[in-house]
Amino acid sequence: MPTLKDDMPTVLIAGGSGLIGGHLTRHFKDRGYRVYKLTRNPKRHGHIYWDPEAGKIDTKKLDKIDILINLAGENIGAKRWRSKRKEAILNSRVKSTAFLASLIPQMPRLNYYIGASGVNCYGNQKGKIYYEEEAYGSDFLSAVVKEWEGAHQLVTNQVKGAVLRISMVLSRHGGSLHLMKQPIYFGLGAAVASGKQHSPWIHINDLCRLMLFAIDHQLQGTYNASAANNTNLEMTQLLAKWMKRPLILPNVPAFILKLLLGERAILVLTDLQASNEKIKQAGFTFVYSTLDAAFKSFFKKK
Ligand SMILES: NC(=O)c1ccc[n+]([C@@H]2O[C@H](COP(=O)([O-])OP(=O)(O)OC[C@H]3O[C@@H](n4cnc5c(N)ncnc54)[C@H](OP(=O)(O)O)[C@@H]3O)[C@@H](O)[C@H]2O)c1
Repeated sequence: MPTLKDDMPTVLIAGGSGLIGGHLTRHFKDRGYRVYKLTRNPKRHGHIYWDPEAGKIDTKKLDKIDILINLAGENIGAKRWRSKRKEAILNSRVKSTAFLASLIPQMPRLNYYIGASGVNCYGNQKGKIYYEEEAYGSDFLSAVVKEWEGAHQLVTNQVKGAVLRISMVLSRHGGSLHLMKQPIYFGLGAAVASGKQHSPWIHINDLCRLMLFAIDHQLQGTYNASAANNTNLEMTQLLAKWMKRPLILPNVPAFILKLLLGERAILVLTDLQASNEKIKQAGFTFVYSTLDAAFKSFFKKK
């Protein structure tokens, strides 16, 4: 059981009850930080109620917060992108971030902010590697990221901080890896479309380390949070190998995926490569820089 150290900072994680927030909480607590989570459904000690849509929050602990990490937002992959869902994806990020920005004056100790963003914001010119200074693309997710990052700026105008354009997070406990594993487990695994489309990804432990690194080095600006770019075929084949399952089916055609998932099929069909040079130049090193190393950490028995 990690011990709380009085001189360690207190962290508030908005949207801390999700996949990244869960890992991050353990990561911080293991290092002696005190962690609170902002959630719409407080269930246990350390949870603080808020309802950003209604502009409501329990303000009791705000004067104790040293570091604010903002992960809040409706899950992008969970449901079809009908117009109401698109509105919720956008508003849950932009309004909650703007709400946090309005609360900064009530956090006198606050000295650092990390805003989550997404790497799917550049468009998808084939073969191009996207750096942070590239213009936003013109699709739905790019528009969301543009507004989301605009809202983060309302916070970073008041307190030092960085925005992390997070790529597909690989974790043993859910998220994209879980979704990829299911069909392979049942012998129905296959690459999608041509399989040649790239996705940037990051191991959950590296993402948590990256957040700590940003705090320790007081990073400012926008950074792609991505360890490497791999194709859909590479990911599918390597995952099947680690799962010791055969891949016997032909690739799933793009139109089938679009029928099944609707517009959000672009999450797996888009060919995107993002550079991680900027964060590496800042001095960050990835523990899991290859897909094989990442999968090994999930499958290899200790
Ligand atoms: N996981 C990835 O691969 C990935 C990749 C790129 C970017 N990101 C971004 O990183 C952030 C965290 O990702 P995650 O995977 O941890 O997401 P997650 O598991 O879906 O959790 C998101 C959290 O946001 C909160 N939330 C959802 N809808 C909300 C709303 N309408 N208003 C306020 N809060 C709301 C939820 O907290 P409560 O229900 O407790 O209030 C939830 O715990 C997200 O914004 C996501 O877009 C994630």
